Amino acid sequence: MANNKTGFTSSFGVIMAAAGSAVGLGNIWRFPYICGQYGGAACLFVYLLFVFLIGMVLLMTEFVIGRRSGFSPEKAFPALCPKRPAWKLVGLYGMFTCFLILSIYLVISGWTLGYFWESVTGTLSSIANDGFADHFEAFVASPWKPVVFLVVFLAFTLLVILGGVQKGIEKVSKLLMPILLVLVLLLCVRSLTLPGASKGLDYLFHPNFALLNWEGILAILGQALFSLSVGMGAMIVYGSYIPRDSNILKTATWITVCDVSIAVLAGIAIFPAVFAAGQDPAGGPGLVYQVLPVVFNSMGTVGQIFAILFFLLLSLAALTSAISLLETLTAWLADRGMKRNVAAVLVSVAEAALGVFVAYSFNGGLLSHITPGGMNLFDWVDKLTGAYLPPIGALLTVIFFGWVMKKEDIYDELSNHGVLKVSWFKVFYHILVRFVAPAALLVSLVAGILT
Ligand code: TRP
Repeated sequence: MANNKTGFTSSFGVIMAAAGSAVGLGNIWRFPYICGQYGGAACLFVYLLFVFLIGMVLLMTEFVIGRRSGFSPEKAFPALCPKRPAWKLVGLYGMFTCFLILSIYLVISGWTLGYFWESVTGTLSSIANDGFADHFEAFVASPWKPVVFLVVFLAFTLLVILGGVQKGIEKVSKLLMPILLVLVLLLCVRSLTLPGASKGLDYLFHPNFALLNWEGILAILGQALFSLSVGMGAMIVYGSYIPRDSNILKTATWITVCDVSIAVLAGIAIFPAVFAAGQDPAGGPGLVYQVLPVVFNSMGTVGQIFAILFFLLLSLAALTSAISLLETLTAWLADRGMKRNVAAVLVSVAEAALGVFVAYSFNGGLLSHITPGGMNLFDWVDKLTGAYLPPIGALLTVIFFGWVMKKEDIYDELSNHGVLKVSWFKVFYHILVRFVAPAALLVSLVAGILT
């Protein structure tokens, strides 16, 4: 590392930590309902295109910026181009995005932890099938439940960060990510063996392009970036922890493949079950809380076990992402000279405060009457962080990388100072980085915002 920070110990550690950042609520909570809204397989097709052409390019971009500079975003941009210090604003923009994302993340993770708890205690399985929508509404509108679980979840996250980069983040990710894969596979097997499962697979794999409009394309682009945790500087921070001898292309490929696979597997676990239980696949943000419990209930006693496994899966996936978000903000303040642990606690307190506001703004909550522009605070943060902020951050980052940073520096970093053969460099740099990614980002942004 440029300034002798502690980083990850191995490429495997990098992959697990960064895949942990990428795989989260975005894959299991948001991806299936976005797919449901924008045409199932049509959405999947566009998503894959965006992930590999733009998302992965950005992942490599951020890794290079991070490892080359050794800094978190605010210092990383100016360090790589000292003549133009104003680029640090892109770094700060990223910190703002991460700050917002973590607040909504804590709220949803709090619900998830709450549902995990209720599935363990049997509360969930005692509810009648037509009662889950009401139950969810009552849960999120309760003055204490969402907040208590939010704080517990945040406490777990903070503990890992206080453990440090190697003994906290890397160790926990290496443990949790394989567990996650096993859990999601288990759920897939159960879902696929339900009667009528094929309808759900049809839905996920037979495209209906009629449901896809420009608004949808921007939402899917935002989702592709959100899901890979790019466009907000988080991967610059993890990039600054990558060992000098790790192969950035290989690492990024593994992370992208993990991220996409878990999203698709989550779709396979969820849609067949939704159809088998006669529920609506376009259930929106409430899909996993209102629809899935019906599915679990209709499985009899094993259903309770699957409910526990599912909400555990979702909580763990959310945890490794929340860790990455908190680490990004902590590293940023630490680079500005604050003590690491003090920074982590400070950020946590601020996030808890904002999180409580967001939590109370949901349907029926204490602050749900505050609806500027017709949307409550939760919907605002969700729309901003899901669709708008990441593509703008991504566009600025890739412009910096392709048009401001020195090409020789990029080549040197991707080839590990000439050790690795990078025959793909020309295509990557001259085509994808400089033209395809910025053009696609710009077109989707403009078209999505105008329509
Ligand atoms: N990728 C995460 C998910 O799919 C969410 C996320 C977006 C994120 N930006 C991030 C996580 C930055 C960590 C850091 O759920």
